[in-house]
Amino acid sequence: MFNYIHKDPSECQFVQIAPLEELPSGERLFVEVDEKQIVILNLGGNLYALGDVCTHDGGPVGDGEIEGMDIICPRHGARFDIRTGEALLLPATVDIPAYPVRIVDGMIEVGVV
Ligand code: FES
Repeated sequence: MFNYIHKDPSECQFVQIAPLEELPSGERLFVEVDEKQIVILNLGGNLYALGDVCTHDGGPVGDGEIEGMDIICPRHGARFDIRTGEALLLPATVDIPAYPVRIVDGMIEVGVV
């Protein structure tokens, strides 16, 4: 049922996104990398990067409400685990990509293949 799209950091090419100070705790950054829509979230100082396209019907999941470590698609209420992209609740059954994030010299970098 699950179709995890974890990226192994060693197989990723990291792309500089923005200075860390542009993403304070509780905020989100929406970026496009290699034609991929990605949302980067700062939750209490921990950064997560997810594909910003819901696997149910293409909604902008990155705009969704956050409950714990879940993000809820604003269109029809599918839930995804922010850490892994795992689809947790219908109507989505396919995971969204979860990308590795790192900070290098104060810059946020996201790993994409
Ligand atoms: S588009 Fe996200 S739940 Fe339908």
